[in-house]
Amino acid sequence: MRSFFRKSVDNTDNVKNIGEDGEAYIDRLLGEMTLDEKIGMIHGKTFFKNGSVERLGVPPIVTSDGPHGVRPEFGDDDWNGLNQNDDYITYMPVNSALASTWNRTLAYEQGRTLGVEFRGRGKDVALSPGINIKRDPLCGRNFEYMSEDPRLIEEIVVPFIRGMQLSDVGACVKHFAVNNQETERLTVDTKVSDRALYEIYLPGFKAAVQRGGSYTLMSAYNRLRGRHCCHNKELLDDILRDKWGYDGCVISDWGGVHDTKEAGETTVDLEMSVTTDFDDYFMAEPLKKAVLSGDVTVDNIDRKVKNILRTLYRLRKIGPDAPLRKPGTYNAIDHRKTARAVADESVILLKNEDKALPLDPGKVKKLVVIGHNAMIRQALGGGSSELRSLYEITPLMGIKMLLGGNTEVVYEKGYEAPILLNRLQTWQETSTDIESVRASHKKTGAENAEDQKELRERAIEAAKDADAVIYVGGLDHIFDAEGQDRESMTLPYGQDELIDKLLDVRPDAVITLVGGSPVSMPWLSKAKSLVYMYYNGMEGGNALAAVLFGHVNPSGHLAETFPVKAEDAPAHANNTFGAKELVEYKEDVYVGYRYYDTRGTVVNFPFGYGLSYTTFGYSDISIKKVSGNGGSVDVTFKLENIGNRAGLAVPQVYVRPVNPSVDRPIRELKAFDKIAVNPGERVEVTLSLCAIDFSYYSEESGGFTVDHGEYVIEVGESVADIRIEGRVKI
Ligand code: BGC
Repeated sequence: MRSFFRKSVDNTDNVKNIGEDGEAYIDRLLGEMTLDEKIGMIHGKTFFKNGSVERLGVPPIVTSDGPHGVRPEFGDDDWNGLNQNDDYITYMPVNSALASTWNRTLAYEQGRTLGVEFRGRGKDVALSPGINIKRDPLCGRNFEYMSEDPRLIEEIVVPFIRGMQLSDVGACVKHFAVNNQETERLTVDTKVSDRALYEIYLPGFKAAVQRGGSYTLMSAYNRLRGRHCCHNKELLDDILRDKWGYDGCVISDWGGVHDTKEAGETTVDLEMSVTTDFDDYFMAEPLKKAVLSGDVTVDNIDRKVKNILRTLYRLRKIGPDAPLRKPGTYNAIDHRKTARAVADESVILLKNEDKALPLDPGKVKKLVVIGHNAMIRQALGGGSSELRSLYEITPLMGIKMLLGGNTEVVYEKGYEAPILLNRLQTWQETSTDIESVRASHKKTGAENAEDQKELRERAIEAAKDADAVIYVGGLDHIFDAEGQDRESMTLPYGQDELIDKLLDVRPDAVITLVGGSPVSMPWLSKAKSLVYMYYNGMEGGNALAAVLFGHVNPSGHLAETFPVKAEDAPAHANNTFGAKELVEYKEDVYVGYRYYDTRGTVVNFPFGYGLSYTTFGYSDISIKKVSGNGGSVDVTFKLENIGNRAGLAVPQVYVRPVNPSVDRPIRELKAFDKIAVNPGERVEVTLSLCAIDFSYYSEESGGFTVDHGEYVIEVGESVADIRIEGRVKI
């Protein structure tokens, strides 16, 4: 029997308590500090470091973005890159890609690899991972985030953080909380029900701090219920500290603090920003003055300093274990292997009629590759997640490397996207000035319609004379970028027209899209095959080629719904996405598939969906209540590979109450796994559910509660592809 248990959600064994000796150690240090020294520690003294207290041997915390690699090196007070050429690193698949693997082990490996790299670059805290809920397909930072589903986020973020922190590097889970649009992100206020907050927007963060043990957390730019998240009493004091017992360090997003007294009195521990007037930050001289005038108590300051000292102790930068702190490294060969392993499992096969894929290299004597994304390198873009990748295998390079010279490969751009060259020099300096962000993101693509037409016609002509055609288009970081939301789901640069015309002459053309978020596909019914790849790290092109030519059996599944058009998305349907002053989450808990599925909205591809070159059969479901350890419900079933290739299945367990006492989504993901099955093999799988998996947040009682009665337990390969079901009485 093979059983794969999801760890209990209450497991807190990873939280690294520093013990009585540790607490006494940091108390002693605190006791010796002057007010100036304390104030120096709680705000940025450079763009990425707080103040140190050399006299007492207290070093600064050195932070760096984040989230899928170590960011290039900047001067202490200069946003121009240092350009010493020593900061090229391993570029891992973005979080959207990682979540599409549905693989906890890979999440752990990705975190572990990043931890070693951050440590190797001399960093203490990685400004990673980003886990905000994908409330809407148009949010500009969706590519940095994982999913629209809280359970999937929890299960990926916990191993990620555990892996990362093995290297004596702290994770900084961000952005806490309800930071789900970029439009007016520095000021926009959010109105959301308690139920949506606790069921949808907070569970990932709770898991990150309680089960993952994240040493630090970044508070978000936006407001929640009128107050900036960076000094939001409800979020930071009541929920994070009191309810969840968090004693790590809360770091403000860069420029997210707006008020000295509020920040002084809530437990945001470290104010960071993007300007060089370090001593004038709200938590610098102004806070010192507030303490001296009695406006803010010293106790408040001490609490912050202690959280920072505790973090330094956990990092082994201070304390008796400091000599044992592990060294890291960057660009190790095994890091590239991990990047490749994650990339392989994140590629999503969305359509494959008549077994159009995989292509047989032996039969392709001449291949035409069309699309600018085949040759664009994506690492150095997107905002604060920009990276200088040691290398980046583009799709075209991956295809050529795989075919190895035996196939004639003809490349045609088909359309032209502007290439981002200047981001590194210009991005963050002006990132808190909305007008500048807007200006810097001006879309300059597809300017010259005549040129685009010529490129299109050339490509279509070339496509006619080939054994196979692969199209590689999609989005880029002009669209998937921090500080702005996309305007629509339409593919840029006239790609819809190009793909449509291409499919007219080559109905067999393989359509692949690279990007960070869903796009509309008006030509979808004409395409036989379709592959989606999120920005997939330095090995992305190899992974894509391996899937297209069958060296890798695809196993990525969507961690978000691909709706037909943006207007179908809940936050669009209720006209609240991108509101400038107050954004009201009117869809409540009906986010993502919880909305589409419950309301019966037709989508292009549902949550959880992804094809394989083999087929899996599901049977023999049995559901058993197990007592002990808080009680659980074990869902056991047989999973069989009924095709002729080894493959990786992603069985997903959805739960639905038969007679709910409040309105509830008709399906919610509660458990899943990723399981390797050989052709003809039949394995028994058990996935466990516990009380929280049957519960909802009751506004009335102010806590999670479970309705007694019957529940339907469904197992399938996506929210819309349920294969077997059973029932259980709770
Ligand atoms: C982003 C954060 C980032 C920080 C530091 C901000 O603009 O919102 O995610 O970590 O800058 O670069």
